[in-house]
Amino acid sequence: MSEPGNHDWTPDSWRDFSAAQQPDWPDEKELERSLDQVRKFPPLVFAGEARDLTQALAAVSEGQGFLLQAGDCAESFDAFSADSIRDKLKVILQMAVALTYSTGVPTVKVGRIAGQFTKPRSSPIEERNGVELPSFRGDTVNDFAFDADARRPDPTRLVRAYHQSAATLNLIRAFTKGGFADLAKVHAWNLEFVGRSPAGRRYEALAAEIDRALRFMAACGIDLETESHLRQVDFFTAHEALLLDYEEALTRRDSLSGDWYDCSAHLLWIGERTRMIDGAHIEFLAGVENPIGVKLGPTATPDDAVGICERLNPNRRPGRIVLYSRMGADKIDIALPPLIDAVQRSGHPVVWACDPMHGNTFVHSSGYKTRHFDDVMRELRGFFAACRAVGVWPGGVHVELTGEDVTECLGGAEEVLGDQLEQRYETMCDPRLNAQQALDLAFQVAEMLRD
Ligand code: PEP
Ligand code: CO
Repeated sequence: MSEPGNHDWTPDSWRDFSAAQQPDWPDEKELERSLDQVRKFPPLVFAGEARDLTQALAAVSEGQGFLLQAGDCAESFDAFSADSIRDKLKVILQMAVALTYSTGVPTVKVGRIAGQFTKPRSSPIEERNGVELPSFRGDTVNDFAFDADARRPDPTRLVRAYHQSAATLNLIRAFTKGGFADLAKVHAWNLEFVGRSPAGRRYEALAAEIDRALRFMAACGIDLETESHLRQVDFFTAHEALLLDYEEALTRRDSLSGDWYDCSAHLLWIGERTRMIDGAHIEFLAGVENPIGVKLGPTATPDDAVGICERLNPNRRPGRIVLYSRMGADKIDIALPPLIDAVQRSGHPVVWACDPMHGNTFVHSSGYKTRHFDDVMRELRGFFAACRAVGVWPGGVHVELTGEDVTECLGGAEEVLGDQLEQRYETMCDPRLNAQQALDLAFQVAEMLRD
């Protein structure tokens, strides 16, 4: 095993480090055949785009922007459709409008999309009624169905994940650059079932104000048709860089700068289970120039937080690192301030963001894994309080959501009750906010930012 820091980085130097959460591929040759294909495919994103995101995040780290990162817990091969991508995009655009209008700073939009397929698991084995099978690790690895064939890791899935990511990204680029994200269409983003909720009505009122502002600008002689900032948005992609074989296969050297980029997404993040300072995930991501996110749960120490920053960003480039606090509503008040304080003292320029979902998951008596909207909001309030107490800008939120009318998280203005979880519980992994809950969250966060 190598020591972090005293060796030359290469796209495969992570192989000398201990890599947690990797599948047990049954056949190395089969894996190699799939990786060989992925290595020859075109990059999904471009280095210049990743640099644009770094620049936008640098502004966030200085309080001149807010990061909105959102999307599925796990994308799926089965639930892949143009409608579901469009509806997710609608909700994210709505949330961004609510945030930008209230705060007056740009919202940096990053999807958990076009590559968010692989999941870390708390146990490698799942047991049901005495039968033990490998856990589901996401559609890049195996199938959700509980039978031995389905759960066998199958590397041809890597190739399929690449193609679905490419198709998803193609649609996102068309939606965000081809007229759909035009501010003049702000009303059209309100999904029908959202429109009748309190958050949806609040959104309609906001959209009417934006209409008035646009008419005012037109009357002043500004040509709204040619103003690209009103007609297009920048939308970036992100996923957890968990499956290192796949990430390595999409890592390319940028011909302009000579630097390495992981071209599977604009931003890659490291999860709570793989953020070990001497582990393979940190090693791999230390060498690519993309912006990197790191989840920090309640067991993270101030030394962990600062050590991770040192290792991933020794040159202290602003916009390179996003730290996501994911403590749980009951723990954040105690656990987060020492981390912010230590990073602040170290002088590392990071974006502090809050994932208010993953520390608040519990199993309801009906057997469904869920989260309560009130806990999510309570954690967000704790995050804002902690940032303000130490004197750093609360730079963003990172949430799991869908554009559909699912019943996966409890609570919200049109309250989802425990006995309704079974009605539309569609996630393959963690419970997501439905579009009403997500929009409501954005309005409440906008208020916290303004206060
Ligand atoms: C996730 O973001 O889906 C996830 C698994 O998060 P964490 O690593 O924070 O548990
Ligand atoms: Co999740």
